[in-house]
Amino acid sequence: MIGLILTLVVSVQASQNDISWSRLIDAISPSDGAKGAVMASPSRSYPDYYYHWIRDAALVMNEVFLEKHRAPEWVESTLKDYVLFSRQNQLTVNLGEPKFHIDGAEYKLDWGRPQNDGPALRALTLIKFARYLKAQNQDAWVVQNLYKAEIPANTVIKADLEYVSHHWQEPSFDVWEEVFGHHFYTRIVQARALEVGAEFALEQGDPEAAVWYSEQSQKIYKSLDSFWSSEKQIILVTLNRVGGLYIKNSGLDSAVILGVLHADIPKGRAWAVDDSRVLKTAKVLESVFREIYQINQVTKNPAGETLAPGIGRYPEDRYDGITTDKLGNPWFLTTQAFAELYFKNEMPQKAQEFLNRTKYHTAVGGHQSEQFDRSYGVMRGARDLTWSYASYLSATRK
Ligand code: NOJ
Ligand code: NOJ
Repeated sequence: MIGLILTLVVSVQASQNDISWSRLIDAISPSDGAKGAVMASPSRSYPDYYYHWIRDAALVMNEVFLEKHRAPEWVESTLKDYVLFSRQNQLTVNLGEPKFHIDGAEYKLDWGRPQNDGPALRALTLIKFARYLKAQNQDAWVVQNLYKAEIPANTVIKADLEYVSHHWQEPSFDVWEEVFGHHFYTRIVQARALEVGAEFALEQGDPEAAVWYSEQSQKIYKSLDSFWSSEKQIILVTLNRVGGLYIKNSGLDSAVILGVLHADIPKGRAWAVDDSRVLKTAKVLESVFREIYQINQVTKNPAGETLAPGIGRYPEDRYDGITTDKLGNPWFLTTQAFAELYFKNEMPQKAQEFLNRTKYHTAVGGHQSEQFDRSYGVMRGARDLTWSYASYLSATRK
């Protein structure tokens, strides 16, 4: 119903912001799926993205929560569905499982697993939601479903924090599901989840857990220092690769910027958006992607506005959105992440140039796929990627 209303609104005079919100709504609890499931994209073949990814869903639900002013009751019931669905996921296989069928069934084929960023991202989203519920005197619901001070953990946040605090030292597959090792992205979201998780554990009357989470968090933060390469002047994406793809000679990856944004550490602290190491890495990524994608030679739109370079995952990427024997393209969500980085650093002009770039490649009707072609600028990969829209909302939120 709410989707219908918004679709009508959108068809009259739609901003990219309203379109993004309406597409998030469309992605949640699809009619052939479980309540609370989030499809990564409606595309069911070439590529098949019709799954609930733990990572994508956590990022999408974070945006849904932060947009609660638009439809508070719907947002609350949707987040509750997501909590119940997540608990079923946790009971189905281990917590590092990256994706599920949209009805909640286990995905049994080969995949890059485990992916240990997922539980951390989910905890970060749900701690915000839990605090919101508590502010509305819904403590009982929170204790029953989100955080109860007991072991074994039977509630979603508690189970995620236990998993992260006991497994962060193990290698896992990266955010792009390709490389098995220790990743900056995974580590920074884990560190932040345990830091915030420790505070929340205290609020839930679980002081011993708070101490444990906080200790692990500090150890992870410490481990992040070794990702800085003073020689290359960048934050390296992966250390101690033990398996998976081996094509990233540069060590450069925009996943590092995504990690900083998703961890959302307060400004002024190490690894926050204004850390000079983060900004230096962003600069290098920009200049590398400016060179390698032909589309970045176009630097003005027809209105004469400046287009920042389209940003991809990493320079050596070979995933074109369907197969991995091609050349990678710029992505909407990574390019919009650069807009977010500069908005958060109070450089709105520079940020806007990244939004000009994605707007330039967005299709009529505000459609954003996963990627846009490095040479022709047309959309590539999964259509209407839900995470693309989430990244737009996140970048433009005031
Ligand atoms: C699909 C993954 O989602 C994508 O990130 C990856 O590049 C390819 N498979 C190849 O592993
Ligand atoms: C491939 C991306 O590499 C990965 O990060 C994402 O979770 C899935 N696609 C689903 O969107």
